Amino acid sequence: MQPSFLQRYLQTFHRIDGWFDFDAALLFMKYNQLAFKDSERGNVLEIGVHHGLSAIAIAALRGAGKQFTAIDLFEDQQKKNVSGSGCGDRRRFDNNMREFYQDSAFVRPIARQSGELTPSDLGSGFTFSHIDGGHSPEEVYHDLKLCHDISVDGGLIALDDYFNPEHPGVCEGAVEFSLRHPDWLRPLVAGYNKVLFQKPRDKASDLNASFVKAFPGLETKTVRMWKSQVILLGTPLRDRIDLYTSTPENLVRFGSAGVRARLTPTVKSIRARPGQQIEIEVKVENVSSEDFPAGEGVFGLSYHLLEHDNPRSWFSTSMAPKEHVVRRISVITPTAPGRYQLEVDLVWEGVMWFKDVGNPTAMIALLVE
Ligand SMILES: C[S@@+](CC[C@H](N)C(=O)[O-])C[C@H]1O[C@@H](n2cnc3c(N)ncnc32)[C@H](O)[C@@H]1O
Repeated sequence: MQPSFLQRYLQTFHRIDGWFDFDAALLFMKYNQLAFKDSERGNVLEIGVHHGLSAIAIAALRGAGKQFTAIDLFEDQQKKNVSGSGCGDRRRFDNNMREFYQDSAFVRPIARQSGELTPSDLGSGFTFSHIDGGHSPEEVYHDLKLCHDISVDGGLIALDDYFNPEHPGVCEGAVEFSLRHPDWLRPLVAGYNKVLFQKPRDKASDLNASFVKAFPGLETKTVRMWKSQVILLGTPLRDRIDLYTSTPENLVRFGSAGVRARLTPTVKSIRARPGQQIEIEVKVENVSSEDFPAGEGVFGLSYHLLEHDNPRSWFSTSMAPKEHVVRRISVITPTAPGRYQLEVDLVWEGVMWFKDVGNPTAMIALLVE
């Protein structure tokens, strides 16, 4: 087992400086997957790449052999940053991109003010664009028009900060665009500080209906915006997705990969005194098709009790498919008497609890008296 692209990407949110939400990346990936078959995906672009936090996700939306155009003023031209929006850094951007894309020949950085760029500077065949550069009305109007002009029919365009009261210029520029060019873009969905638009195309499938169908039970509202029905998202998408199995091209629903590990404690219930240390044996079976990782601080058996983070019992050797071991976990019971549930799970440190990808945990009833 190796951490997936999405699991590694989620970890970067702790260390790459930026203004992006992991759930926005998942939203873009899902609509990209619904709008285009693999063979249809084309070039992609971002205006305002900053240090690369969102760029890592946008680059993953391109088609095979296609380019990612990365536009920013970077550090040399900040005097042109009229709306004071962020401050790009070319070295950090390059390093962060290289971490995810060893061969970054497909990245085309353009160190210019987006307002100076025309469609002939960028080319055509764009299937996804993310606008997150200057936030003044003029910059946003220009960037929407530029992205519209270079997009294929059906192309997706995401706009940052449309509903952010700290940047009213974004809304002003976008509304100006809608009044001057009604029907050039259709808003589809708003969430995680983004509005996602689509350039109309003949025989367009209903992406919103497909999106809702893909996540049954996801809380959504529908509002009318620019004369279209738009989905409003509030709750995180990440809870719905198996981040280990998913790729940016194919998000797999939580729980659909089935059981990977079977955990069978030797006891179903325990009676103990407050603050007592007890040992519990658990049979761990690898019923997946991959080896489980091993190592101190890497892979272990642990439990949840009262939402606390508890000690691990580390695996010193990896477990091959069909193998099983019996491991002990040491539990200190709560000091307050009462009835508790001890939830036993496998933890891949810094990557996932198996519960997070839909694997069943084992429950033990604990009576402290
Ligand atoms: C809000 S930050 C982008 C954040 C980034 N997308 C992320 O999610 O981490 C805005 C970026 O746009 C750049 N920028 C501002 N005005 C610009 C313009 N007119 N043309 C190109 N880049 C611009 C800034 O240098 C800054 O790096």
